[in-house]
Amino acid sequence: MDHFEYRNGSLFCEQVAVADIVAEVGTPAYIYSSATLLHHYNAIADAFGELNPTICYSIKSLANVNILKLLSSAGCSFDVTSGGELARALVAGGDASKIVFAGVGKTDRELSDALTAGIGVFNIESEAEFENLSRLAAQAGANPHAALRLNPDVYDPKTHTYTATGKKETKFGVDIERAERFFDAYGSDPNVVLDGIHLHIGSPIYSAQPYVEAIKKTLTLIERLKGKRFEVRTLDIGGGFAADYETGASPEASEYAAAIVPLLKDTGLAVILEPGRQISCNSGILATQVQYVKTGGEKNFVIVDAAMTDLFRPALYGSEHFVYPASIAPDADPPERKAGFTAPDGTKVDVVGGVCEGSDFLAKDRVLPPISRGDLMIVFSAGAYGFVMSSQYNSRPRSVEVLVEGAEYRIIRRRETYEDTYAAELDV
Ligand code: LLP
Repeated sequence: MDHFEYRNGSLFCEQVAVADIVAEVGTPAYIYSSATLLHHYNAIADAFGELNPTICYSIKSLANVNILKLLSSAGCSFDVTSGGELARALVAGGDASKIVFAGVGKTDRELSDALTAGIGVFNIESEAEFENLSRLAAQAGANPHAALRLNPDVYDPKTHTYTATGKKETKFGVDIERAERFFDAYGSDPNVVLDGIHLHIGSPIYSAQPYVEAIKKTLTLIERLKGKRFEVRTLDIGGGFAADYETGASPEASEYAAAIVPLLKDTGLAVILEPGRQISCNSGILATQVQYVKTGGEKNFVIVDAAMTDLFRPALYGSEHFVYPASIAPDADPPERKAGFTAPDGTKVDVVGGVCEGSDFLAKDRVLPPISRGDLMIVFSAGAYGFVMSSQYNSRPRSVEVLVEGAEYRIIRRRETYEDTYAAELDV
């Protein structure tokens, strides 16, 4: 579900025509719908309500401070994965005591900053990291809470290998066998209270089953630890809830909850969730203008002013985003958002950017309606891992970001300038 729809042939975000926004802010432009962000956040909060969970939105999926403010004001907390994300969470008014911090490579500075801020839970990925946190906590006179990131050795075969994190061979967490020894070694640490377990099995996970498997394994471990007098109070089940890149293809929050809530509701555990994509993905589009239409060899190309520098996912993972013009015939049926959707009067094209790389494409082999120079094209479901993974490669300034709220919209990050791409090189 989202608030992007065609009305009389024009794409609207909530009450605003996307073409009107673009007329003011130019292209490429990331455009987000606040109603969609809040809808998905509330759907998760409602679905898991019985557990009264702390919902820590995963900042890495869409990190704009203004969006964090919006979510924070709705009661959402944050999952951070770097010092930079922690700084954003705090600037956005996030409650430090509810922030969770993950990541295999936290530096001393990042750990110290998080100790100073007084964050809720450090999600710890290795023995060496725990020892380092303990040392820094002693120095700072702090007594933080930590959760051990468990690697439950489950996975979803549909998850891309780059983002499947719950398998034994990945760099993430500690396997179940080692977890018990971990508590033996650090469960009574004088400086750090080790009283949580953290899971994040991959992203996205397209069904509840892998969560169920991982949680069952974890509950067994928690029982064993109890036998050794180690009390686990917090269980963070991570993120990875899928988003609808193709209409109707992914489970809703309620479907995940229906399988997960019964497992946890009588355990007395404080539950944390770290959803990113399910909140942000369909809340954002990337609007881009067609520069040229070109027939080359056996293929037709639509060359647009967005590129892999703006949306890296197709190049990096071969991900499929639905791409379509912002304007269609007023009486035409709105397209069904499926990567394989075929326009009735269409031709097959690749939608590509202007970067000097063969991997610079946004969509391949799509049957689109006739496209001309100057047309506005929309890449849908671009809110998650879109802007945040953008770069200045080829010295391309990053895109503008716009937030729509009902009939209003505002720029929430200005378009970068050429000067922005080299400013840090001049003041050295
Ligand atoms: N928690 C942890 C510890 C994570 O590592 C992640 C994502 C999340 C939560 C949020 O996962 P989500 O709910 O958004 O699926 N760049 C890739 C995704 C990488 C995800 C990394 N970790 C993509 O574009 O698909």
